[in-house]
Amino acid sequence: MRIAVVGARGQLGAAIVHECAASHDVVAFGRADLDASDEAAVTAAMARVKPDVIVNGAAFTDVDGAEDHAVAALNANAFAVRALARAARTHGATLVHYSTDFVFDGTATEAYTESVRPNPQSVYAASKLLGEWFATDAPRAYVLRVESLFGRAPGAGPAKGSVAGILNTLRSGGVAKVFEDRTISPSYVPDAARATRQLIESRASAGLYHCVNSGSCTWLEFAKALAQQLGVEPRFDAVRMADVKLRASRPRFCALSNEKIRATGIEMPAWQDALRRYVETLRDEVAHQVADRQ
Ligand SMILES: NC(=O)c1ccc[n+]([C@@H]2O[C@H](COP(=O)([O-])OP(=O)(O)OC[C@H]3O[C@@H](n4cnc5c(N)ncnc54)[C@H](OP(=O)(O)O)[C@@H]3O)[C@@H](O)[C@H]2O)c1
Repeated sequence: MRIAVVGARGQLGAAIVHECAASHDVVAFGRADLDASDEAAVTAAMARVKPDVIVNGAAFTDVDGAEDHAVAALNANAFAVRALARAARTHGATLVHYSTDFVFDGTATEAYTESVRPNPQSVYAASKLLGEWFATDAPRAYVLRVESLFGRAPGAGPAKGSVAGILNTLRSGGVAKVFEDRTISPSYVPDAARATRQLIESRASAGLYHCVNSGSCTWLEFAKALAQQLGVEPRFDAVRMADVKLRASRPRFCALSNEKIRATGIEMPAWQDALRRYVETLRDEVAHQVADRQ
């Protein structure tokens, strides 16, 4: 299959390129190659490539920044998706688009399924929900909600996000500030990328899927498990959401049920297993750096 990956230098976009390159004809567009919110540029790029599948890794992901830059967030997270969906329609292509747990308000007490009505509480969340709706303009669309991504593929831009922040603090011997009352279902980037490839290849029913590792934990539990796997002292400043003033509101409880994607035959390993594999890649990275220096 010819797969066009947009936003190909992002954390997830780079992992999709890495995952699919061996078995498919992948055409990767970084932001410098294609601004996904420029509809004319999207139309021209897709007319050149004639993809069977378009995977959209592009997004405005600065959750707090979106509160002050609503138009930029809407352009990247909603109107770009509309442009990609229209291009998918022109070429009869499948569109894969990613969304977020933030579409929920976080007041649930059990894992959210795909059938629960979203209730976004921030500009970022609302722009992502619009993107979910625009994606369905494509003749076949997979909308995959991921959450708290961790892991980095070759070709990705600089690591960002909460896990990278905690990791850097722990490695430098600092004290990481983490929420003790925010519940998540973490998503290991290579697992989300593999699930994406399997969905495309299996031609599973199009639609909305939660694409996260199995299980859930608080950020503090996740950070403690990370410290344990790394073999470093677990030095944390555990904070409660009510005590931290953030520009954008975050959902407090956002465990996502991945029963629907698992029912298609796709395995979503437990987050603890994913974390163990992630830390192994970090050890390999350090070993290579040491070998290079010798
Ligand atoms: N990271 C998470 O924990 C998380 C959680 C839930 C959902 N998600 C969703 O998962 C998806 C992937 O997230 P990610 O963490 O991989 O994001 P990321 O690392 O921030 O990557 C997004 C990429 O999109 C690029 N981009 C931004 N605007 C663009 C545009 N108009 N045209 C083309 N490229 C553009 C960015 O370039 P620049 O870096 O140059 O801006 C960046 O390379 C997104 O849909 C996100 O909303 C992520």
